[in-house]
Amino acid sequence: MTKIPHRAPATQGHDIPKGEALAEFMAKNWADSALDNVKAAEVVKYAAVRRSKIGALYPGVRLVFPAGTFKVRSNDTDYKFRAHSAFAYLTGIVASDCVPDSVLVLEPSRKGHDAYLYIHPRSPRNTSEFHSDRRHGEFWVGRRLSAEETEGRYGITVRHIDTLQELAQNQIGTLAIRGVDPVVDSLFEKHKKREARLTEEIAELRLIKDKYEIAELQKAIDITARGFNDMIRAFPAAASGKRGERIVEAAFYGRARLEGNELGYDTIAAAGAHACVLHWIKNDGDVRPGELILIDAGVEVESMYTADITRTIPINGKFSPEQLKIYTLVYEAQRAGIEAVKPGAHWNAFHFAAMEVIAKGLEKIGVLPVSAQESLAPDAGFHRRWTVHSTGHMLGLDVHDCAQARRESYYDGELKEGMVLTVEPGIYIQPDDLMFPPEYRGIGVRIEDDVLVTKSGSKVLSKAIPSHPHEVEVWVENLLR
Ligand code: GLY
Ligand code: MN
Ligand code: MN
Repeated sequence: MTKIPHRAPATQGHDIPKGEALAEFMAKNWADSALDNVKAAEVVKYAAVRRSKIGALYPGVRLVFPAGTFKVRSNDTDYKFRAHSAFAYLTGIVASDCVPDSVLVLEPSRKGHDAYLYIHPRSPRNTSEFHSDRRHGEFWVGRRLSAEETEGRYGITVRHIDTLQELAQNQIGTLAIRGVDPVVDSLFEKHKKREARLTEEIAELRLIKDKYEIAELQKAIDITARGFNDMIRAFPAAASGKRGERIVEAAFYGRARLEGNELGYDTIAAAGAHACVLHWIKNDGDVRPGELILIDAGVEVESMYTADITRTIPINGKFSPEQLKIYTLVYEAQRAGIEAVKPGAHWNAFHFAAMEVIAKGLEKIGVLPVSAQESLAPDAGFHRRWTVHSTGHMLGLDVHDCAQARRESYYDGELKEGMVLTVEPGIYIQPDDLMFPPEYRGIGVRIEDDVLVTKSGSKVLSKAIPSHPHEVEVWVENLLR
């Protein structure tokens, strides 16, 4: 018999033990607190379609999608839980209803598959779990949905997580998403190749967003837009003392928590030359008027879709001539990139369109050792000294969405209606880069928008956030007036 890894421990060290009399006393005299009027969530019909699409690829096979479990941050405190994206995609369960250790099972049936959601439902008052389990007890973590409430809201038959082991005893052909929940990993026999393929299939299904997903992404982007306004309003405070980048970061986090679930990824608030560090998330630098601040931030909404937006903004609201030159070049590269987003275009087309503008701009500035044309040859790429990352990626439940899709359907594939991607060229002139005159050194600019591929071209979902250099200046002026 396989040894099942232990789920979360019930009680931790420093809790004061309860005697039997107290436990008995606590088990009684609680009113019924079931929720009435639980309505089916809007996502129900979309999630059912998604499940039937993946099920159709695996007739007769049991499919297991774990949500994941707790992850210790320090001793007995955990990171905030976030469900695995494949689980979120196939159930539609939003962050505030998601319970760690949940598992979605698609069980083969005569018609296809039946869906079962294994969860740890709300703790009954007559068990010690209620008051003594700091990971599941309602006294500790608050109310969760009951099994009935979950069924009512998400339209999936619910079973208690403790019965998953029973299901596993019937070892019919089963494929599971691995590395998410050690219990699932140990309960079902591993099929490395076929399970890797299942992971790819899910990622590939997620390439094309349904109507619900597009609306949720738009919601995430609209909240992110308000978060950018909050950050600009915080510029004077940020510039007035030490570690102003943290003030900017915190301003955005407030908006993410107020209107969304979380950040989709750690905010990059990179003032001055920090903008040239692509993943600057320390954010412990000062914010100085006269410099630019590159901010890459995205709100994740309750349904766990995230925005991914970058703006590079003059802290005092005015670009210097050198800043404006680099900014305008990135702006034009991004315009060219967005122009190239249309159904049928090769994935690389928007990247190359943006790179062509950048290479030509750098040639004009006089920093390329060869012509732009020569630099653009695949084995040359001298312009890439100042722009090392690719120009975009898919966006959805994960900020770098669908990363497990096969090359032929993503990086070597074509854009299709319903895909959502980022277009995010940048130029980064390191502070010690002798190729540029001193006044340019330390300037880093990225402009990142979120773009939906439509039937005839594209729609920039984040177009309400100013990016034209003049509009950026007006934006700051209006907010700081
Ligand atoms: N924020 C990560 C990215 O832009 O890809
Ligand atoms: Mn991005
Ligand atoms: Mn980004």
